[in-house]
Formats: sequence, structure tokens, C-alpha cells
Amino acid sequence: MAVTEIGRLVDAFIAAHGTKPSRLVRAPGRVNLIGDHIDYNGLPVLPVAIQHEVRMLVAPRDDGQVRLANVDEAFEPVTFELGPVIPARPAGHWANYAKAAAQALVTACGPIGGLDALVAGNIPQAAGLSSSSALVVASALALVDANALEIAPYALMALLADAEHYVGTRGGGMDQAICLGARRGTATRIDFRPLRLTPVEVPSGWRFVVAFSGVRAQKSAAAREVYNRRPRECAEALPILAEAAGLADEATWPALVARGTAGELAALAVSELEPPLDRRARHVVTEAARVDEAVTALRAADLAAFGRLMTASHASLRDDYEVSCPELDALVDLALGAGARGARLTGAGFGGSVVALADEATAAGIVSRWAQAYCRPRGLAGAVFVAVPSEGAGVSDA
Ligand code: GLA
Repeated sequence: MAVTEIGRLVDAFIAAHGTKPSRLVRAPGRVNLIGDHIDYNGLPVLPVAIQHEVRMLVAPRDDGQVRLANVDEAFEPVTFELGPVIPARPAGHWANYAKAAAQALVTACGPIGGLDALVAGNIPQAAGLSSSSALVVASALALVDANALEIAPYALMALLADAEHYVGTRGGGMDQAICLGARRGTATRIDFRPLRLTPVEVPSGWRFVVAFSGVRAQKSAAAREVYNRRPRECAEALPILAEAAGLADEATWPALVARGTAGELAALAVSELEPPLDRRARHVVTEAARVDEAVTALRAADLAAFGRLMTASHASLRDDYEVSCPELDALVDLALGAGARGARLTGAGFGGSVVALADEATAAGIVSRWAQAYCRPRGLAGAVFVAVPSEGAGVSDA
């Protein structure tokens, strides 16, 4: 971060809290390259952390209060006590993400000391780039650091994945894990149950170009119910499929996926389940296979194969999982028309962003095609960027 920018943030912190900050916490957003809506089923995903991040200046306090300010005036200052039960604000309130982290740490570690914090950052909100989990992670790291808590990285990732259920969304563990565990220059294969992160280098000539559709999908508010319906549908489909596959004793998606090819399992889903559960299950089993194949393609630097998998993933999310929307479909089509090797919605969908894969020479053409044909007519400024696979969250001196 530029020295002038940190200087301005320090001044804003002093104005808000009347004291100097001692620590700076950074927590990046993410773009998921492939593997959406399968993390909550315990199946692997392949995201990258991006250059956009939450930044939080922090000063520990001697009491048990958390005092939060935000450089964006749309987000009111909030004070809360780190008691055993931390009451939530109304759904969608920004402070709930910090409270989610605080509640999980108090529950896991007992009484802890509070802090003053100022939140800033540049992750577009409700854009499918995980701004909310970045705030959960930043808040948690600030409290862990201020209290010198000792929590192993995998344990913290798992704790924060559960912690986010505080806001009412039944998400999986992808966002918190990549935010904490990403390595610069790599995509990360994340396996669950048990959690395991495997970095895979992104070839230097590959470009992941991202566009925000302008359709906001706030998972903790308006989009919460439609999002939560999908894990419920999967939970309904699983025992039926597991039984049909002779897996009654181990009715898990990973066990099911290990039982056959994607084609066999998709056929099983269609023969055993009623609509729409048949389509939902078909997405889950085929997407899991695409993640495996995508990791192989990434290791082999096979741009064409990786791109084909991305486009197939989008079709599955659109047609079988029904989490796309006309705007995301339009962005995908525009990218493919401009020479992208593949394109798909990224994250939860219902709005948010798309990611397209291109070689160095083609990336600029996709950026300008999106800008011209999609963003300009809708007055969307700054909605397109090339993702830089970035390092995970960290704490340093302010
Ligand atoms: C949201 C959730 C994640 C994941 C994605 C879809 O970002 O927070 O856990 O389920 O949606 O892949």
C-alpha cells in the first residue's frame, strides 16, 4: 500500500478513536476459478486470492469492547462488548461480519480483550468476490493478534467457516480458507474434511479477467434464502443417491464421488431423483470432476483444457444449479466472443461477477469488449480487472 494512503488511514483512525493504531491487518478477496456450490458438500474447489483487500488498522484495548469505524460513511460506527453471547445487528449489517469472528473466538477461547479498529478496503461489495469473508478474516486476525491467541492456520480457517453462519448464510469453507491460506502466484486446491490446501502455480502467461455484472447479490440479506435453498436441496438428494450407490453407511458427497465416474453418477442422479434435485446433484458430481481435471490442466499449463472446463462449469451452474442470471450469461458470451478460452460465473451467483481465461495477447481485447458492450451502456465504472493471484491475509506493524 502506498505510504500516503496508509498515512491517510492513520489520520482517519486517530480522528475516529483519539489514539494511534499499532497494527495493520490485510485480508484479500478471491476469485474462484472453478468448483462453485460444492464446498458445502465437502468437495474440492480452486480459487485464487486477488489484489483487492480489506485493510484494518487496529489498536488493542484494555477492556472487552470492540469499537469499529469505517472509512466509508455508508457504514455507521459500531461498538460492542465481547461477552459470551454477542447479539447480531439486523441481517445485512456490516458489523455482523466482525461480530461473527468475535463470537467464534470468544466461544473457542473464552474471555478476550477488545480493540479499536478502522476498516477500509477496495473489494467491490456483494460482487461475488468475497468481501464479507475478508472482513470476517480481518476481524478475526485482529483479535487473534491483539490477544496473542495461538490457533493453527487450518483450525482458524475451519473456525471462521463455521463462524460465518452467524450472519445466517449456510456457506462452505472456501472463502475463509483461501483468504487466510493463499500463496502469491498460485491457485489453491482446497479439500475439505479434512481441510487441506494445495497451491498450484498459475502459468505466467495466463490471465484471469474479471467483470462485475452490477447485479448485487448480498448473501447475508436479500440473496440469503435463495442461496441457503441449494445446500438444503443437496442434503435432500444425498441420502437417496448414497443408498442407490450402496453407501448407506457413509452418506457423504466425497464418498459418493469416489464411487463412480461423473457420467455414471450424473446418470444415477437423473434416474433416482425428482426434478430439480436430479439437476442439482448432476451439477455437484460433474463440478467435482471438473475441479480434478482443472487442477491437472493447470499443472500441465493446458490453457485450452482449463478454459473448456470453465465454460462447462458455467453451463452447469446456469442450467442445472440455476444460480446464474441474464447479466452473467451475457458477460460470459461476450468474453467467449472476444477470444476467451473459457468463462464462467464465480462465487455464489445470483448476480456478482464472471471470470474469463485468456492468454496475454487476448486479455486486453476481453477487457475492452466488456467495457464497451456491457459496462459503458450501464454506467458501470471500474467493474473490470485482471486478477493478480495474491498472498493470503496477514498482520504487520501499522
Ligand atoms: C459463497 C460461499 C462459499 C461457496 C460459494 C459458491 O461464496 O461463501 O462457501 O459456497 O458461495 O461456490
